Amino acid sequence: MSIDLLEIKGLTKYYAGITALNNVSFSVKKGETHAIIGENGAGKSTLIKILTGAETPSAGKISFEGEEYDQITPSHALEKGIVAIYQELNLIPLLTVAENIFYGCEKMNGWFRDTKLMNKEAEQLFADMGVKVDPEARVRDLGMAYQQIVEIVKAVSKNAKLVIMDEPTAPLTKNETKALYTIIAKLKEMGVTIIYISHRLEEIFDICDRVTVMRDGTYIDTMDVKETDIKHLMSLMVGRDLAQDFPGTSSFEEERVLEVENLSNSKLKDVSFYLRKGEILGFGGLIGAGRTEVAQAIFGADEITRGCIRLNGKEECIPSPDKALELGIGLIPEDRKNSGLILDLPIKTNMSFSILKKITDRIFINNAKEKKICDELKKELQIKAHNLNYKVKTLSGGNQQKVVIAKILAQDCQVLIFDEPTRGIDVGAKHEIYLLMRQLTEKGKSIIMISSEMPELIGMSDRILVMHEGKISGELQKDEFSQEKILEYASFNVGE
Ligand SMILES: Nc1ncnc2c1ncn2[C@@H]1O[C@H](COP(=O)(O)OP(=O)(O)OP(=O)(O)O)[C@@H](O)[C@H]1O
Ligand SMILES: [Mg+2]
Repeated sequence: MSIDLLEIKGLTKYYAGITALNNVSFSVKKGETHAIIGENGAGKSTLIKILTGAETPSAGKISFEGEEYDQITPSHALEKGIVAIYQELNLIPLLTVAENIFYGCEKMNGWFRDTKLMNKEAEQLFADMGVKVDPEARVRDLGMAYQQIVEIVKAVSKNAKLVIMDEPTAPLTKNETKALYTIIAKLKEMGVTIIYISHRLEEIFDICDRVTVMRDGTYIDTMDVKETDIKHLMSLMVGRDLAQDFPGTSSFEEERVLEVENLSNSKLKDVSFYLRKGEILGFGGLIGAGRTEVAQAIFGADEITRGCIRLNGKEECIPSPDKALELGIGLIPEDRKNSGLILDLPIKTNMSFSILKKITDRIFINNAKEKKICDELKKELQIKAHNLNYKVKTLSGGNQQKVVIAKILAQDCQVLIFDEPTRGIDVGAKHEIYLLMRQLTEKGKSIIMISSEMPELIGMSDRILVMHEGKISGELQKDEFSQEKILEYASFNVGE
């Protein structure tokens, strides 16, 4: 029998009027990879914050390696080898990989930092993990996946015993996820215990031994991964049966709302396509294929060196996002963490900020109007907020993302670009977002949807464009949709 490394006993956390955790008890065995799953706002991140000392519990105890604590302080956590890797990375972009790893515990040679030694040791750490990363590269020049790998290696260099990953793969593609899996396997080999939080339930079956389900701050159950399946986990998570399939198709018109011709810049080469009224146009491709860049260019966030954009048949110059919004083009960005939420302002203000003109009578904000719009968006997106007057920072990660979506939807744009619309969103709310997209197209709005999730791309799109190295490499009509075809176009240019 394996022994418990961590035991959580009756852990409870109250925030002003909210019970984020309610008497949660379960244990994590030494050396296992233990998943924690639950809907947005279930209490997963709160639990992690308590384990690393970022938050103090209102009640309950934690026992780690047989020692019991009322609370863990950050220095305890460090000393005991409990490390969390959050979605917002803690690296310093301007420093090199090695400098980041040894930050705060630099190797010295007399009075000077021994850069050579640090580079060498960092290189060895990566070699031990079976990955190749240049220790002298600046962190800001690394992709998301490698930045995460650096964080993990940094944790390992500090003799971590428990590594907690809060949605590590949310921003990663399939290939990058594989690189992360390799690292996780290595950590397991080294006897490190892992807590793994993810909304991608398939991943749990790929890499975890056991899974704990939480719902509304309470503990539901812990199971061996081998003894359960996705359907069962989903029903435990949401406490009801879920509509799984994708809602209908759009009845789009032939009228072309948006036409893009020979769009080019440093990342894009002669991208041409059209979007019809009421259509959902899917964009498939690998990461770096240029899909987000197309979105940015149309939204006026990236410069265009050549090409033109026509809206309702009229050529438009879109030098800035403000102009795009004025013309009725909205973008829900991939990187929602950095998309302009003001964490210290109320949820409702964040939602309505962009539509102040619409809700202001002469000089006063019409509170009733604002409330009506915000309440509707809250309901449509199932934002789990106790009160829209609370600050955005009191929301769980997934619910903050929904506020970003709400903010753009409030502007009532005729063309909406969704970049990875359901990333970080729980399985229950995913379906709501799909329904919402269909409702929008029924109202005559047109949608561009960039997605790396095959089922979503195939299930929601009316037509799919696939990109490869900054060009459109293929177009698929609904009756031609298949995963194989999309992958084929995604991996090489047609005609090569
Ligand atoms: N600082 C805070 N003040 C008030 N309420 C908070 C605070 N932090 C979290 N909460 C609330 O606690 C509950 C649990 O949030 P938590 O972040 O733990 O959810 P989660 O399971 O990690 O969700 P997600 O999948 O969206 O990341 C939510 O209702 C959230 O609004
Ligand atoms: Mg969270």
